[in-house]
Amino acid sequence: MNISGILKSNLVHWIEPEKEIDTEKRQRPKWVEKSFDVKTINGNEELFITAHGCYEAYINNRRVGDFIFAPGTSEYEKELYVQRYSVADLLREGKNTIKVLLGDGWYRSAAGVTGARNLFGTHIGLLAWISSKDSIIVKTDGTWETYQHPEIVSSDMCQGEVIDCYRTIQEDRKHVYEKEYSFNNLRFADNPHIVEKERFKGKQIKTPSGKTVIDFGQNIAGYVQMTFNAKAGQKIVLIHGETLDENGEFTIENFQPGERHKEGGIFQKIEYIAHDGQNTYKPHFSIFGFRYCLIETDISLEDSVFEAIAVYSDMEETASFESSDEKLNTLFKNAMWSMKGNFCDVPTDCPTRERAGWTGDAGIFVNTGLYLMDCRKIYEKWLASCRANQYKSGAVRNIAPRNNEESFFGKMLASSAGWGDAIIIVTYTLYKRYGDKAIIEENYEAMKKWLMFLRKRAKKGFVKKLLSGSRDSFYDVTSGLDYGEWAEPDVEFASGVDMKGKSGVATAYLSYSAKLLAEMADVIGMHEDAKAFSKINQGAKKAYQHRFISNGIIESDRQKDYVRPIAFGLLEERDISVNAKKLNDLVEKMDYHLNTGFLSTPFLCSVLAENGYVETAYKLLLQKTKPSWLYEVSQGATTVWETWDGKASQNHYSYGAICEWLIEGVCGLKYTFDELVLKPLPSKQLQYARVSYKSPKGVITVGWHYEDDKCLYSVELPDGLSGKLIKPNGEKITIKEKCTCEL
Ligand code: BGC
Repeated sequence: MNISGILKSNLVHWIEPEKEIDTEKRQRPKWVEKSFDVKTINGNEELFITAHGCYEAYINNRRVGDFIFAPGTSEYEKELYVQRYSVADLLREGKNTIKVLLGDGWYRSAAGVTGARNLFGTHIGLLAWISSKDSIIVKTDGTWETYQHPEIVSSDMCQGEVIDCYRTIQEDRKHVYEKEYSFNNLRFADNPHIVEKERFKGKQIKTPSGKTVIDFGQNIAGYVQMTFNAKAGQKIVLIHGETLDENGEFTIENFQPGERHKEGGIFQKIEYIAHDGQNTYKPHFSIFGFRYCLIETDISLEDSVFEAIAVYSDMEETASFESSDEKLNTLFKNAMWSMKGNFCDVPTDCPTRERAGWTGDAGIFVNTGLYLMDCRKIYEKWLASCRANQYKSGAVRNIAPRNNEESFFGKMLASSAGWGDAIIIVTYTLYKRYGDKAIIEENYEAMKKWLMFLRKRAKKGFVKKLLSGSRDSFYDVTSGLDYGEWAEPDVEFASGVDMKGKSGVATAYLSYSAKLLAEMADVIGMHEDAKAFSKINQGAKKAYQHRFISNGIIESDRQKDYVRPIAFGLLEERDISVNAKKLNDLVEKMDYHLNTGFLSTPFLCSVLAENGYVETAYKLLLQKTKPSWLYEVSQGATTVWETWDGKASQNHYSYGAICEWLIEGVCGLKYTFDELVLKPLPSKQLQYARVSYKSPKGVITVGWHYEDDKCLYSVELPDGLSGKLIKPNGEKITIKEKCTCEL
């Protein structure tokens, strides 16, 4: 019997604690509770549980599991995850009580791009049962009781919590309401839980205008645990922000919620009214992006303790990097922290403004992410949301799971190349890392639909193309809307948006994605498809050349226009070196500054270095004035910024994708499931660089250092893994176990 059958035959029901509520108003979190008898404990008792909203479950007053914001985020109507906990240790023979606190969570908080509430529904609810051997010993149904949380007045994921420990409410218990929802969306999966991780003790500072601010020293996503002594009724307000302004004052200006935000702003605020004596509090259903907290209170903070707790999906760190340049080392750490701050069940753009699983960002970062932390399951889960979210046309919604209401522009931008392509890029990167064909099979139809959607965009204007007499333009995408390169320095965000494939981004991605999909189709035996995709790859390549390359030469003052075609293989072999030189000249002319945006920045250094301009690549990498990666480090950043000037989000992992080049380029460690290529690109601009990566086959450590003019490369490989070393002079050597050789 399937899950739906089991639940129906055992009369397990969804229960809701609320009936008629003002859905415009935030509600108090609710407890739902049930007492039940257990005759004998067998040791295999398990709690199965999920919610509309988020839940915290307790059995006999002991917390079940460590999952914060359970059941996580997903495209709830299509896939709602059920957690499974072994609970024998929490139960006792005789009378037991299970109680569950329900909060708004992603289900009905203002936790998305537009701050719209009630995105998935207006009523929180619970579905749970405890099984023992083959029987169910307790289950959600109309016999459960409910009461409001006595202290928490409201709890929103993004806006924060209001807690009143002075005017607590005590109300009679009521029965919950049984509700019928389909069980078809229920999924069982062992996704990593979101958990509490590192803690940072706060330091109190006074700003020039006399405001009290706590500095935790690290920008994170999480919340604050505070302990202080107060008199009943005294109030403390905490506002969480990422940065101080140029005058040293606390600011949340950089969240830039824009006019679209339904609540007029992103507040990240805790309002707490104290009880007498010692108070200790941390939020239940809120998470913020912050390094600083502005404190407003008349409570004496003398003996207070403020501790920031980083909260993210439970992933192991799998890479470390070190070089002779401290700032570069900080950049690597900052990328790791931006990853931690954005991997809250799915990869998101930032933990403050939008908190959204943007496709483009995921595609840009996936290869880096898979090196930095063990995040395979997070991407796999995210891909499931992309599939669930895809339009019939093949267009891929920009954000998965969806986190705002459908809008006219949102729908149009679902055609965006570089963003929709993430469904192919992420799948391909996962396959190359782990060699598991299942990931291709699972996503194959969705990837194909996306590619055909892009292909269709290229077919628009066919007659015009025919009349123009050029068969080469048949694969040119000259319709639709794209984000374009996005977030280039000195280009206004909005003017970066690309109409009718003007910049060629879409044609370039049509070719690139077709190449990746052709390779994947062959892997799963879809050889006819592979041929068709290869044809698209070649067709779009010709179309790109036709429009943007004249006599083998690209003319542009934007680096992206060289980087993308070289990285995606859109040039004829013979034309690469002249255009790489033009890119190098352009970078030199800009005094070794970049002018790329989201899509081509990850490829910039590798395109230069692979084509003979290693020194230029290092100069860009080590550049300290803006726009550059180390400018923000020089400004004291502890995470990676969204924009090169730091005026927007301070915690966007996207530009952290440079770590891919630190690992694969600088240190030369390129790992795929079937091959380890060691191709270091040393430069005397650093004295040494080394990286360690805990690969699926064991820990790989490589690095080089200079001894006078000699550059020595050390390699340490796990048992059974060999690597192909390609020296800068082209010499090739097979390496096993351990060695140090001259480069
Ligand atoms: C997000 C990005 C995203 C972009 C789409 C921004 O507001 O923060 O990371 O990819 O919109 O263009």
